[in-house]
Amino acid sequence: MNQLVVCSFLLAIASSYAAIVSAASYVVSVQGNDGGDPICGGVLIGEKAVLTSAQCLTFYDPEQLVVSVNNGAQIIKLAGYTFDVAFDFVTMENDIGLLKLAEAANADTIDLAQQQPATGASGVVYSWGNNGTLNSVDVELISTSDCGSGDYGWSEDEVFSTMVCGLVKNSSSCVGRFGSPVVSDNKVVGLTSWGGCGTNGKAAVFTDIPSLLSWINSSL
Ligand SMILES: *[C@@H]1O[C@H](CO)[C@@H](O)[C@H](O)[C@H]1NC(C)=O
Ligand SMILES: *[C@@H]1O[C@H](CO)[C@@H](O)[C@H](O)[C@H]1NC(C)=O
Repeated sequence: MNQLVVCSFLLAIASSYAAIVSAASYVVSVQGNDGGDPICGGVLIGEKAVLTSAQCLTFYDPEQLVVSVNNGAQIIKLAGYTFDVAFDFVTMENDIGLLKLAEAANADTIDLAQQQPATGASGVVYSWGNNGTLNSVDVELISTSDCGSGDYGWSEDEVFSTMVCGLVKNSSSCVGRFGSPVVSDNKVVGLTSWGGCGTNGKAAVFTDIPSLLSWINSSL
């Protein structure tokens, strides 16, 4: 197993996003049990617990999903899954789900942010690419209220309390597939949810983790 982990580390080094990779083995991907490309992102918050987007569990058949750790070094079946019953696929409020793993992941876990960062704080969105590279995209985080102010492409009736936003700093990058973790100050603050790439002054909208802590804690 260690050898495989080292391999995926080296693969990631070969990409243009090298430096941060060793610290981010908590980034997983969710894929079909027939192999193939990742379909959603996810993040290890416990050795057997992965947070992802509710969209992932409603748009795909959860019975056929597995979790890929360290770029396939470990493929883990689900022992169970749940998503917030308050998830609204029109407004995208409460876009959160939890996967329970059938075995422990050999990877790091990350803590949940307890408070939403202020507008302007730095974040990084991580996701595994189809080619075995861990992509990281730097974002400037935008608070819920600022995001709905109209200054970032959205109005207050589109950005709800379970959402936080981010603008991508490098205009040629994109935040990536839904369920991918947004990390700030070594804690997971969000999951990609909707709103596009986060470029050209129009913020990408993330699931806000601090506002969903009670759902997460009661679902573990
Ligand atoms: C990378 O992805 C491209 C297109 O998705 C594919 O053609 C290519 O074979 C992949 N390379 C590797 C090393 O998997
Ligand atoms: C910007 O993003 C593109 C596409 O993802 C990437 O190829 C390039 O290296 C990035 N530039 C910087 C400075 O990170």
